[in-house]
Amino acid sequence: MLAFDVLPSLVSSTEDERLRAAFEEHLGETRAQSERAEGVFRALGLDPSSNRSAPLEALAKSHDELAGKVVLPALRDAFHAAAAVATERWELTLYEAAIDLANAMRLDGEAVGLLEQSRAEEHHALLVAEAERRRLLDSV
Ligand SMILES: [Fe+2]
Repeated sequence: MLAFDVLPSLVSSTEDERLRAAFEEHLGETRAQSERAEGVFRALGLDPSSNRSAPLEALAKSHDELAGKVVLPALRDAFHAAAAVATERWELTLYEAAIDLANAMRLDGEAVGLLEQSRAEEHHALLVAEAERRRLLDSV
């Protein structure tokens, strides 16, 4: 899963303690989300599989190409936070589609609840990343 490559890299390249802690927290949430997604696959009678997301890979590639060019540490950390905002928005879009699909397929409430729990975590991560981006830009 791409997030398991990107988030540790962000943790190690972020200088701001609060933002780094937020990325570490979301890495743990992402591990739980992966397990929940596997549970939903099994509820459908399917074997869980991992597929790369072209939009998320493009976001990560764009971030990686530009982040090293940002010289000021606080500005570079704000750039990391901005990349996280874009990623969380895309992930929210995917969870919303998955929840709509699960409801349309009349999956049991437990499977839908697992997806809703992950969506709530993504929404929280989005709000945190937006707040961190603003705080870091205010400090520049
Ligand atoms: Fe996320």
